[in-house]
Amino acid sequence: MSQRRWDAVDKYFTDTLVAPDAVLDAALEASKAAGLPEIAVAPNQGKLLHLIARLQGAKRILEIGTLGGYSAIWLGRALPSDGKLTTLEYDPKHADVARANIARAGLSDKVEVITGRAIDTLPTLTGPFDFFFIDADKMSNAEYFRWAVKLSRRGSLIIVDNVVRDGEVANAASTDASVIGSRKVIEAMAAEPRVSATGLQTVGFKGYDGWAVALVVSD
Ligand code: SAH
Ligand code: DHB
Ligand code: MG
Repeated sequence: MSQRRWDAVDKYFTDTLVAPDAVLDAALEASKAAGLPEIAVAPNQGKLLHLIARLQGAKRILEIGTLGGYSAIWLGRALPSDGKLTTLEYDPKHADVARANIARAGLSDKVEVITGRAIDTLPTLTGPFDFFFIDADKMSNAEYFRWAVKLSRRGSLIIVDNVVRDGEVANAASTDASVIGSRKVIEAMAAEPRVSATGLQTVGFKGYDGWAVALVVSD
């Protein structure tokens, strides 16, 4: 199986099931024009995040790792009229591009981009949040997961992106900081009695990667 086939299937699903969207396209174009890395979630992944947030009835969402706001727009659109998404971004340039993209999406009232290192801005937040999307520096994933649990309630959902890393997550001998970060968050989920969790491998536009998903099952 090759990246070419994964791309073809992602293209088929996206062309068929994800409606063309000028605002999301513009967000990706503006991000690229500003020189941001092209590492936003794929369209079909963005839509899955959106559907899960709707399914859950999420009213307060916390994202860690904004980039140009692509996933934030998908998640922001899942919110009810009185919902709110807070998204944390280290790089002021990424945050500026994201704010412009979020404004173009008509979501400025619902979405707040907070600039700074997440580890410094997380302590300023008040929970509970219903839904978390953790997608920033991978080394810190276990710490971000612990913060998410702290800012959660029973029924909150925590999704961590990019934990599979071409399968390296199963390599206990890896010296790659991001792989070590992935293993640490999986182990933190296993050790946390307040959550019930699983992991999922995915292929597609984003290569071979996957999510860890944890449901907070007690207060
Ligand atoms: N969620 C986005 C992609 C995020 S890419 C999407 O799918 O559209 C990861 C982002 O995390 C980058 O913009 C990077 O600058 C940011 N980041 C890296 N380290 C961080 C930190 N310590 N605190 C907050 N954000 C960080
Ligand atoms: C990278 C980061 C991501 O969040 C992602 O989804 C893909 C790649 C990266 O840092 O390379
Ligand atoms: Mg990611």
